[in-house]
Amino acid sequence: MDFATLLTSRYTCKHYDPNKKISKEDFEKILEAGRLSPSAVNLQPWHFFVASTPEAKAKIKDAVMPMNMERFENCSHVVVLCAKTDATLEYISKVVDKEDADGRFGRKPEAKVGQDAGKKNFSSIHRISASEIAAWNARNTYITLASMLYQAHDLGIDSTAVEGMYPQVADDLLKLKEQGLTCLCMIFFGYRSKDDSNVLENRPKSRLDLKDVVTYL
Ligand SMILES: Cc1cc2nc3c(=O)[nH]c(=O)nc-3n(C[C@H](O)[C@H](O)[C@H](O)COP(=O)(O)O)c2cc1C
Repeated sequence: MDFATLLTSRYTCKHYDPNKKISKEDFEKILEAGRLSPSAVNLQPWHFFVASTPEAKAKIKDAVMPMNMERFENCSHVVVLCAKTDATLEYISKVVDKEDADGRFGRKPEAKVGQDAGKKNFSSIHRISASEIAAWNARNTYITLASMLYQAHDLGIDSTAVEGMYPQVADDLLKLKEQGLTCLCMIFFGYRSKDDSNVLENRPKSRLDLKDVVTYL
């Protein structure tokens, strides 16, 4: 599907068919779309927890608000979208080492040194407080949400971005603080039930006009 069609035809699924499961192969493509998302200085400050079995869902159920419970229970897969709470110097060096292994610096060792310093310098602007670095990481992590929603749609898989949940409860249930992570939201994936009321035929897409959201300078 071309991207313009993806944008106009994706919608938020409200009712899932509990009998339809996403294949492992397709779900990995969705995760891959998250992994390949861009981030400031390529810090990739995210982590995705996945629940697809009743047992796995039970571990996070208490973090779901009642309004989203039916879709949580019937969807095929849940991603708990988490952001790092910090950008430690050790973590930044790990990213730079991976970039090196992936061939980003060619045969120029000085390029690696420069990248390492640049990333540490740029992230230090946001390390002025614990809340600011966490907010910066969260802003970057939300980009993966969009990537995964559109990749899913391209595969014919429906989805629901879910902020109707209790992030602090997820933090506690999954012991996220101890892992240097915090929960932002969840994403449900699956296949719409045949009576999903939110389909575009019932509820056409609505957005403000371009003139309301764009200013040419
Ligand atoms: C960050 C975010 C959080 C959302 N939280 C919920 C939610 O908790 N439950 C729900 O049913 N829909 C949720 N939505 C879906 C929005 O209501 C929906 O995207 C919006 O109304 C536009 O409709 P569309 O996605 O069908 O185009 C959320 C969407 C986003 C992007």
